[in-house]
Amino acid sequence: MTLVSKDLLKASEILNREELVAIPTETVYGLAGNIYSDTAIKKIFEMKKRPFFNPLIVHIHSVEQVKDLAVDFPEKAQQLAKVFWPGSLTLILPKNDTVPDLITAGNNTVGIRMPDHALTLELLKNLPFPLAAPSANPFTYISPTKAQHVKNYFDGKLEMVLDGGNCANGIESTIVGFENDEPVVYRLGSISTEEIEKVIGNVSVRNNKEQAPNAPGMLEKHYSPRTKTYLVQDITDFIKQHPEKKIGLLLHSTNHKNFNVSNVIYLTKTGNLKEAASNLYSAMHKMDQLDLDMIIAQRLPNYDLGQSINDRLERATK
Ligand code: TXA
Ligand code: MG
Repeated sequence: MTLVSKDLLKASEILNREELVAIPTETVYGLAGNIYSDTAIKKIFEMKKRPFFNPLIVHIHSVEQVKDLAVDFPEKAQQLAKVFWPGSLTLILPKNDTVPDLITAGNNTVGIRMPDHALTLELLKNLPFPLAAPSANPFTYISPTKAQHVKNYFDGKLEMVLDGGNCANGIESTIVGFENDEPVVYRLGSISTEEIEKVIGNVSVRNNKEQAPNAPGMLEKHYSPRTKTYLVQDITDFIKQHPEKKIGLLLHSTNHKNFNVSNVIYLTKTGNLKEAASNLYSAMHKMDQLDLDMIIAQRLPNYDLGQSINDRLERATK
């Protein structure tokens, strides 16, 4: 049985003996271990069935720690950290030799972020090492936004989920790196490109495998329910093409007629993209337990967090 609890001392004790704890963050739950323990890091890859070429993000509680991990902290990266940390921004920086290759998949860069969750910040302060934490889901599955999601995935295999409630933002951090000092977004996420650009000006977005060989984690199939999922613009038309099917609908606006389908979840009823993002994965988890023939998601407007949500839904359909 996996313990689900708010007990910080227990969590530290487990992490100190090179075991894993799932930790809450404001984006999604992470499967955490000591970055300096090969034993712990190997367990992360094993438990997730994640390929070793996919590097892990290092979680810190203070900007001071960046110098232990990276050999350079460019001006624009510092500006972003100042505005968005603690928060849903991962910075890709040239790594220090002391960061194990297992963490970075042999890359000469390391991904770093300071999560915005009181319990996890407290935990990080109590530990003598930073935590590597990929999302706490088996490879390619939907990321967890509640302690119960993690328990459902790893019950009995994982010692503890540190229970920090529902993740407020609900989708992963935005990943920003630098190429010849030019900022590049490698993963759309909880902080929109528009918000990033307000701080450092124009950024390029290279959010897929072809465009971003430096971000090996940008796999086409990802965030996927077991139920076959479709992302469509015209819901009415698509439903007509699939009579007799048990359908779940993920919608985000109310100006639709009543669809005659078994299940409907509104990500937002007011067009609030932040709200839609925070509800996305829990809605997908719910739909996936209903034994449906298909999930049909309505494409969001392609700006702000709508872009990040469409990106996740796109990958869920693969
Ligand atoms: O919001 C988040 O970032 C969550 C929470 C737990 O912090 N973590 C998360 O980790 O989403 P994960 O492992 O599911 O996704 C990490 C992504 C991967 O796509 C990986 O390839 C990329 O970060 N990444 C990590 N280090 C990198 C590096 N050095 N260079 C390029 N990409 C990197
Ligand atoms: Mg993930």
